[in-house]
Amino acid sequence: MRISVIGTGYLGATHAACMAELGFEVLGLDVDQAKIDCLSRGELPFHEPGLPELLLKHIASGRLRFTTSYEEVGAWADVHFIGVGTPQKAGDNAADLTYVDAATLSLARHITKDSLIVGKSTVPVGTARRLQQLVIKNKNDGVDVGFAWNPEFLREGFAVKDTLTPDRLVVGVDNPDAEAVLREVYATALAANTPFISTDFETAELVKVAANAFLATKISFINAFSEVTETVGGDIRTLADAIGHDTRIGRRFLNAGVGFGGGCLPKDIRALQARVSELGLERTMRFLSEVDEINLRRRDRVVFLAEDMLGELAGKKIAVLGVAFKPDSDDVRDSPALDVAARLFSAGADVNVFDPEANTNAAKRFPRLNYVNSTVDAARDADLVILLTEWAEFKALAPTDLDDLVRGKRFIDGRNVLDMGVWQDAGWDITALGHRHVGQK
Ligand code: UDX
Repeated sequence: MRISVIGTGYLGATHAACMAELGFEVLGLDVDQAKIDCLSRGELPFHEPGLPELLLKHIASGRLRFTTSYEEVGAWADVHFIGVGTPQKAGDNAADLTYVDAATLSLARHITKDSLIVGKSTVPVGTARRLQQLVIKNKNDGVDVGFAWNPEFLREGFAVKDTLTPDRLVVGVDNPDAEAVLREVYATALAANTPFISTDFETAELVKVAANAFLATKISFINAFSEVTETVGGDIRTLADAIGHDTRIGRRFLNAGVGFGGGCLPKDIRALQARVSELGLERTMRFLSEVDEINLRRRDRVVFLAEDMLGELAGKKIAVLGVAFKPDSDDVRDSPALDVAARLFSAGADVNVFDPEANTNAAKRFPRLNYVNSTVDAARDADLVILLTEWAEFKALAPTDLDDLVRGKRFIDGRNVLDMGVWQDAGWDITALGHRHVGQK
């Protein structure tokens, strides 16, 4: 079976390389020539553990190639996966469907052999049925083109594992032939007893946004309790551990901190609200605007704490450890950490930033921050150190690593990963989100 993957961003490049790893012949397509040139040389334009190795392996094996030609793809592949982006529209909560519409239309017009189109992008419910009609209206006569929806649940940092060994497979189909093709594509995972949920288009589309809305709500739930424990006292980590022992709740995604960011959770909860409002259900997902606001208020809290510890920020030197939206990623899209760093800078602070992977991407967005190449360089002469992304090397920090470097022993743990007692015993004024700051006004 020959597989094409339309769109070679995060999702598409991962899917293409993993399909080759599963033994298929794969052709990745993107309209961005520079991206295709880069991938064809075996270079990955973003950081993802394990993916560069797969890319090189299958360029070498000949199973993975890249192109910008819809004509080539349309004449070659049996299954076409669409993995283009659906970003948030500028000035609007809704998803921008320009790319997914354009990709579907181009495919439909260029397909010259019987094949199946499978949407993977995260889309507002109702999109699959609309795109199916677009395909029917625009496909070439005499060619049989099926349509299905197969949402993707990969996490950055675990993209290869999540694609090769997913925790579930969801397919939206309207006939048994399409399901049979997708069962063949995912035969390896199915042989390993991966749950396979075959459903209609609408449910398949909703599964994805429901999962992300749930995860975002879970994070904001614990972060709302942070606002309480910051006021009355208490320990947010112990609270999360204690409720997490209830298997109905579970401990994962209850880490209190500076909140969620990235290319999915923030835009997906906004797009879901926009979509249900279009459907006349304005109140149904209104709680998600609270989820969003709780999340954004965490950033205010870090700035408040910095002011509380330092007084006036102007002229103060602050070390920011981590600007990626989460560890093991170089992605700074909607990153809470980068937003906080930029706000501290706007308030007049001299901000040193160190992230093991995301400095370059962050510098494209906020070039005026002072990017350095190590924790030591960031912390030198700092009046305050703030940990905002929980990279393993930051979690392993001990007071002795910084004692002789800083100008003031002040620390804000924005991800609740350090043992505050150890730092307090070493003479540091340390606080974490979800904890009352003893020196607080
Ligand atoms: C998410 C979904 O997990 C994935 O299934 C979907 O396909 C895409 O969106 P990703 O964006 O890679 O994946 O990141 P994820 O690991 O979910 O983390 C999202 C954000 O939540 C990060 O900013 C992270 O720091 C934050 N987070 C996560 C918390 O603040 N607390 C937690 O307990 C967990």
